Amino acid sequence: MGFTFSLMKEEKKPSVLVVDDLLANLELMEAVFQREGYTVYLALSADNAIDIFNSDPVDIAIVDVMMPGTNGFELCKYLKILTGKFFFPVILLTALNDQKSKITGLECGADDFISKPFDVVELLTKVKSLLKLKELYEELDHSENIIFSLIVAMEANDYYTKGHSTRVGALAKEFGSFLGFPEKELAILKKAGILHDIGKIGFSENILRKPAELTEEEKEIVRKHPLIGESICRPLLSMQSVLPAIRSHHERWDGNGYPDMLRGGNIGKQIVRIRSA
Ligand SMILES: [Fe+2]
Repeated sequence: MGFTFSLMKEEKKPSVLVVDDLLANLELMEAVFQREGYTVYLALSADNAIDIFNSDPVDIAIVDVMMPGTNGFELCKYLKILTGKFFFPVILLTALNDQKSKITGLECGADDFISKPFDVVELLTKVKSLLKLKELYEELDHSENIIFSLIVAMEANDYYTKGHSTRVGALAKEFGSFLGFPEKELAILKKAGILHDIGKIGFSENILRKPAELTEEEKEIVRKHPLIGESICRPLLSMQSVLPAIRSHHERWDGNGYPDMLRGGNIGKQIVRIRSA
């Protein structure tokens, strides 16, 4: 029985960081979360909270807005910068009906608010829902990383293609920046550049590394890679914005490209699809 038990996946308890300058409030929160099985970290100041976060990254933070020294807004902003592109949920504790604090909190990146004195059921519901969202973001990030790794693996064995997709991603972003595209669109261009040849993933080495010119039959196979790439990425919600670029990266202005033989301005319409995605 012991052996069977050791094979079972141990479920990690979620951890919560509560930040408040009033010890009584911290103790109350601690009791609520411990009863629900959370690992609880308590901090009496923003500096204390940052120290805890740096030594043991937690899953969610609940931060009181009014604190001496660095206040809750500044701490929220700092935690969001620290966690970068990863989703790290922060709930701010505000006074009842304090609209101004909520607006400032949203500007600082807060994900939700709890009014003091807090309702336990409301607090636990909001925490659970944000942790679920965090889990979904992490799964999404994991799926994207698998696809990016596949591309690196596909190119790694060949001197000529090694790093090709990464370079295309960097150049696409640089060109978009030259054209004055906003940050969000530059990120799409970079991702599209990295993924554009993902459709070659299933091609044999004989075609990918053939030193001589490809036969017509082989060329026909290669011409399918934009469509294959599009179908590989289509199921992923986070890839929707890059599908037009993957499908159309071999179109030519004179209409002699593939797969849709788009000509001139019609390729532009695809760009509009990318920009409005
Ligand atoms: Fe290509």
